Amino acid sequence: MSTTTSYKPREFNLSGLNGISDETLEMHFKLYQGYVKETNNLTEKITKFIEDGNVDQEEMPAYSELTRRLGFEYNGMVLHEYYFDNLKNGGGIGDPERTAKFVKAAESSFGSYEIWKADFVGIGKMRGVGWAICNQNPANGRLSNHWITLHETGNIAGFDPILVMDVWEHAYLLDYKPAERPKYIEAFFSNIDWVAVEKRLQQKNTRSAGA
Ligand SMILES: [Fe+2]
Repeated sequence: MSTTTSYKPREFNLSGLNGISDETLEMHFKLYQGYVKETNNLTEKITKFIEDGNVDQEEMPAYSELTRRLGFEYNGMVLHEYYFDNLKNGGGIGDPERTAKFVKAAESSFGSYEIWKADFVGIGKMRGVGWAICNQNPANGRLSNHWITLHETGNIAGFDPILVMDVWEHAYLLDYKPAERPKYIEAFFSNIDWVAVEKRLQQKNTRSAGA
């Protein structure tokens, strides 16, 4: 008997993006559903190991392997939810308004929105399989950009994801060649839902941050 609560895959109202086809999105939603399924499978298996209140010596290798894999699947599920949520159904407007809270936060953390963007885009172009993420430090409101290898290496504990960009090849391979990741990143920027991004930002005095 299992007492774990399963995650249900979310439905995303997302189509008609600029430069990212509906075909890509449909395939991507299915991949996301796979992460939800595997998160539930692993959680259930791990729960079975501890039903008797401990992990026996002979159970330890399998238990350890399942637990290590959980970080990959769990982050795969959560990061895709952030990613789809920060894209705008029907396409976006490009860069945010100059008056946006995000622009102010980028200015106080990086000097200017343009420098923040150059850093974020640069991270997105890094070789390898992973994600570019703009995080906010909840302690001082400061923004910082990070590279995540796969789904789980490089996440910063306690920081809040504000903008999440998937740069795995599956995110654009139906629309662009593998070497054309910069074109996909350009398309991604043209589809950002800045209202959703603003909602993730916490009210912090970012102007005094960085001491
Ligand atoms: Fe993905």
